[in-house]
Order: sequence, then C-alpha cells, then structure tokens
Amino acid sequence: MFQLFFTLYILLFLGRLCVEAACSCQPVIIPAKVDALVPKDPTDPFAGLKSDLSDLRRLDVTYSVYGVFCQPEASKSSNAVQLLVHGFTYNNQYWSPAVEEFQNYSYASFSCERGMPSLAIDCPGVGFTSRPPNASDVQIPIGAGVISRIANHLKTSSIISGVKPFNKVIGVGHSLGSLMLNFGAITEGEQFPFDGIVLTGYLNVSVVSSTGRPSLFPARDIDPLRWSDLDPNYITTDSVRTVFYPPNPNSFSPRMILLDDLTKDVGSVFGLDQIPSGSLPVVNYTGHVAKVVGSEDLSSCVDGICSDVAALRASESTLWPAAKSFDVAVSNGSGHDLNLDFFALNAFNIFFSFVEKFSR
Ligand SMILES: *[C@@H]1O[C@H](CO)[C@@H](O)[C@H](O)[C@H]1NC(C)=O
Ligand SMILES: *[C@@H]1O[C@H](CO)[C@@H](O)[C@H](O)[C@H]1NC(C)=O
Ligand SMILES: *[C@@H]1O[C@H](CO)[C@@H](O)[C@H](O)[C@H]1NC(C)=O
Ligand SMILES: *[C@@H]1O[C@H](CO)[C@@H](O)[C@H](O)[C@H]1NC(C)=O
Ligand SMILES: *[C@@H]1O[C@H](CO)[C@@H](O)[C@H](O)[C@H]1NC(C)=O
Repeated sequence: MFQLFFTLYILLFLGRLCVEAACSCQPVIIPAKVDALVPKDPTDPFAGLKSDLSDLRRLDVTYSVYGVFCQPEASKSSNAVQLLVHGFTYNNQYWSPAVEEFQNYSYASFSCERGMPSLAIDCPGVGFTSRPPNASDVQIPIGAGVISRIANHLKTSSIISGVKPFNKVIGVGHSLGSLMLNFGAITEGEQFPFDGIVLTGYLNVSVVSSTGRPSLFPARDIDPLRWSDLDPNYITTDSVRTVFYPPNPNSFSPRMILLDDLTKDVGSVFGLDQIPSGSLPVVNYTGHVAKVVGSEDLSSCVDGICSDVAALRASESTLWPAAKSFDVAVSNGSGHDLNLDFFALNAFNIFFSFVEKFSR
C-alpha cells in the first residue's frame, strides 16, 4: 500500500514539475558530520544544556541527509536560500504536500515562484535521512547540529552543479523543526549560520498545552509493514491527526487530512521530552527572528494567548535579547499545521514577507 502510494506521490510530483516551468525541484543527498554532546539520559528536558560534563556523552556521527532542492529559473536567481525544517511525524513533504495537484499548499512552490530557492530536508531518523537504530541517538542537539551543518554547506559549497554557494541562509521551521532551530541559536550563538529564522507553529513552552498533543504510539505497532523493525522509541500518531488542524472542519480539505495520515512519518520520543530546552533565553544569536502561529493552533494558542499579538510579541521577545529584529505574527484562522488548511496562502504570505526582509 505504501509503495503504491509512494509511486503515486512521485508521479504527481513529477507531473507538477513539468507544469511548473518557472521552478525546478530535485532530490539531493548531503553528508552532515555532527560532533555533539547529548545527555546520557535522553529524557532530560533541557537536552543537556544544564548538565555537568559527566552527565553528557559525545556523539560524533556523519548523517546522510535527504532533501528536495527547488530553484527558480536562472533569471530570478537569488543570493539567499531557505532551509525548510519539518515538525514531528512529518518529513520534507510538509513543504509540498501532494494534495489537489499541490494547489495552494506548497510553500516550496509559493516561494520558488517568487524567486526564492529552498531546500526541504528530512531530519535525522526521518524519511530518507539516516535513521540511527537506537532512538536515544536522535535527540534535539543532534537534529539542531545536522540543520546547522546543512546551512554551512549551503553557504560554502555548490548544492547542485551550476548553483553557487549562497550568501544568506534563512531557516524556516515548523513546530519541532522550529525548536531545533531555536536550540541551534542557543548553543551556537554568533556562529549560528542562519541570517534569519522564521519559527512557525512554535511559541515558548509555557503555552504548550497537553490538549494540543495527539496520541502517540510505537511506530512499529501503528504500521508494521513500514516500521516493524524500529526501536519502539520511534513513535508516531494513530490515524487521528485532527489536533494539527483548526477545530472547524470546514477550514481544511478532507483529502488533506487523509493524505496527512497516509504520508505521516516517525520521530524519536526523546525529541518531545526535550521540548522545554526551548524555554531558555537565546543570549548570543544576533540574526533576525520571527514567530508565526495560527490563531486556531490547539497547542500554542491556548487561553486566548494569541488574541493580543502585542502582548505575545513583548513576552516572547524577552527570550531573544541580542536578535537584530524580533516579531510575532498570528495567521487568522490557521491551525497548528499552517501549511495544510484553507488559510495556507495567508500564512505563506506572512512567512515570505519575513524571508524577504531577512534576506535583504
Ligand atoms: C540505546 O542507547 C542507550 C545509550 O547509549 C543505551 O543505554 C541503550 O541500552 C541502547 N538501547 C539499545 C536497545 O541498544
Ligand atoms: C517560557 O516558558 C517557561 C516554561 O514554561 C516559563 O518558565 C518562562 O517564564 C517562559 N518565558 C517567557 C518569556 O514567556
Ligand atoms: C554567550 O557569549 C558569551 C561571550 O562570548 C559567553 O561567555 C557565553 O558562554 C555565551 N553563552 C552561551 C549560552 O553560549
Ligand atoms: C479572523 O477571521 C474571522 C472569521 O473569518 C473574522 O470574523 C475576524 O474578523 C478575523 N480577525 C481578524 C483580526 O482579521
Ligand atoms: C487556490 O489557488 C487557486 C489558483 O491560484 C485560487 O483560484 C483558489 O481560490 C485558491 N484556493 C484557496 C482555498 O485559497
């Protein structure tokens, strides 16, 4: 079933590429060597940031990172590139879901058509990127390290033949992908290779409500055909993924939520345990920062916290004292997965306005 579906996905994907002459996309594989300290106890909520050296262990691993690189026609070539980082139980397809011939749901196409290339990667343990056999080797510091090394690669090497290294890299994350960018900004400070980051579907942990979490299970129990040989600490959702959408069922396509379930991916349970690491201040990062959430986000916008954007901006900005600029925007109507509902175009315009500003 998955094979069939996947083939269909590829066909749709290629079909789209032919129609969309202004942009071309192709898969790439990039090695990323990460040498990081992780907590010996992978359930450590601060992911080692508050640990003594004796409670940390060193992981020095080279990951093979899969991504899809999209570039505009040569005449619109850009000095800047976006690195797109998916959230938990998603993969690179989040940025280009194959629904309704991609109409309106592909941020990779949306931005490419406006002249901005992107690389959407699969994080460690996910999709076609290396999956360590032991899920305790997939922790937030590892994901963050891989993302930063890929950004360095985009700045120093040619990603595909004929494309020069980029001067600027803008990170665009979603949910746990945003947390990983946030973590890299904490640990790498001024060395963090991103000129700006747009963190979508992610606010400080104080507002993460347990109601916004789906039910999670060992992936091998959910889909033995795909995941029977996985460590049970690789987890995923059952087929109920409504928490990622606005509560009003008229605000998203029934086909989208069907495809979402069919193409869902896995994640290490320890990534979720380490979410509180994002509540520490990012004292040394001096680039641009923006957060974008949906007003109907069931995990972030609880207790009316998103109805007063000025107050939200003021409280979240205290975590980024050295940032060149800081902003918060709320996309009216959008749910947690801002890219997947009928308000996606509004959300894309917001993301893109920040990306343009940060890449100037
Ligand atoms: C996974 O790695 C951790 C940390 O190195 C270790 O404690 C645990 O026993 C390993 N689990 C398996 C199944 O090998
Ligand atoms: C961030 O979240 C933490 C944990 O809930 C909380 O203690 C802290 O006050 C929050 N910081 C801001 C600036 O909201
Ligand atoms: C921030 O930079 C200062 C000065 O270089 C350094 O002493 C401090 O350890 C850095 N903080 C973090 C969290 O990296
Ligand atoms: C948000 O959308 C709702 C319903 O579409 C509308 O009633 C409301 O005025 C909008 N709010 C803002 C701030 O645009
Ligand atoms: C999707 O895009 C098409 C073509 O650009 C447009 O006509 C339509 O209104 C859009 N639909 C939504 C839900 O935004």
